[in-house]
Amino acid sequence: MTGRERDRTVYLDHAATTPMCAEAVEAMLPFLADSYGNPSGSHSVARAARRALDDARETVADLLGARPGDVVFTSGGTEADNLAISGVAAGDGSALCSAVEHPAVLEACLAVGGSVVGVDRRGVVDLDELADLLDERVRLVSVMLVNNETGVRQPLESVVALVHARAPEALVHSDAVQAFSWLDVAALTASVDLVSVSAHKFGGPKGVGALVARDRAALLRPILRGGPQERERRAGTQNVAGIVAMAAAAKATVRDREEASRRVRDLSTRLVGGILETVPCVHEATARKDRVDAICNLGIEGVEAEELLVVLDELGVCASAGSACASGAIEPSHVLLAMGRTIEEAKRHVRLSLGHATTAADIDAALLAFPRAVGRLRG
Ligand SMILES: Cc1ncc(COP(=O)(O)O)c(C=O)c1O
Repeated sequence: MTGRERDRTVYLDHAATTPMCAEAVEAMLPFLADSYGNPSGSHSVARAARRALDDARETVADLLGARPGDVVFTSGGTEADNLAISGVAAGDGSALCSAVEHPAVLEACLAVGGSVVGVDRRGVVDLDELADLLDERVRLVSVMLVNNETGVRQPLESVVALVHARAPEALVHSDAVQAFSWLDVAALTASVDLVSVSAHKFGGPKGVGALVARDRAALLRPILRGGPQERERRAGTQNVAGIVAMAAAAKATVRDREEASRRVRDLSTRLVGGILETVPCVHEATARKDRVDAICNLGIEGVEAEELLVVLDELGVCASAGSACASGAIEPSHVLLAMGRTIEEAKRHVRLSLGHATTAADIDAALLAFPRAVGRLRG
């Protein structure tokens, strides 16, 4: 990389994580210094932390369409997903999830002996296959709201209706980690028993999230034991600073959601349209109507995504693809494979994801860098 090539950094990886919003930073700071109490204690310092935790719980519950007692604070989306699955399904093959779930759901589901429901070429869960797999033994069905690699939205209402009709005892979980920035999660998950969110995907800090566990799901089996916190559903001293910041980020996200969505729709239209116009043999993994605007997944013929990401990074554009394995290499995406792409095809896809911090200047710079990067690799 040369200084000339990288004038500025264009961050198009908001599905991986987002910068913290000002409201979250401001809310968090006092709890890193002066307000350090353990919310489980009874003296005045502890009570101050307890009040902050209670306020944050009310805010998060309200914004997720839940009651404060339904909210279990966790260390992030991964723990919320694991708690939803392991807290309900035992190792008796009684869990189902879609083939395009984040590994936090997919692997937790397989670990309890669960089964995977296929998706069609668009990446949408196959409702006929789900119907065939649903019977009275099923305890939990997990289908995400928005996919983290393709942005594809799942038909959650139809999933819930099917589960209620075929397996009325089963609970429905939805991973809303990628949805909260863009969609009205409270409304879309009103009839869902368990909902996961993660603060760092919507302007909050890393390492904090929440699981809504309402009504029939309230009695979760904990995966962390050793304390009465979170109504005995998650032991361990709460991350008060992180939780307070998550509540502030959630508030700002919901307040600005409509405007941010509109802005990101325009920016992503220009980004994808510009790339399709200037770079031959590029296609979108999914149609626009099936996905949120913020997550754009592009297949580029004749170019390995892993190499493209390196050149884009040299040109100042941060993007991603598939998921990194333990060695740091990029594995072909299980999501694209489930959508019927071959391994070779899947290796040519990159994800460009926009967020509340993306600007028109970022898109201009990306539109200059992308054709240069692809041209350099195609030779
Ligand atoms: C859909 C989805 N679920 C769960 C997670 C895990 O969240 P966290 O990073 O907070 O553990 C992610 C993060 O990439 C995600 O995109």
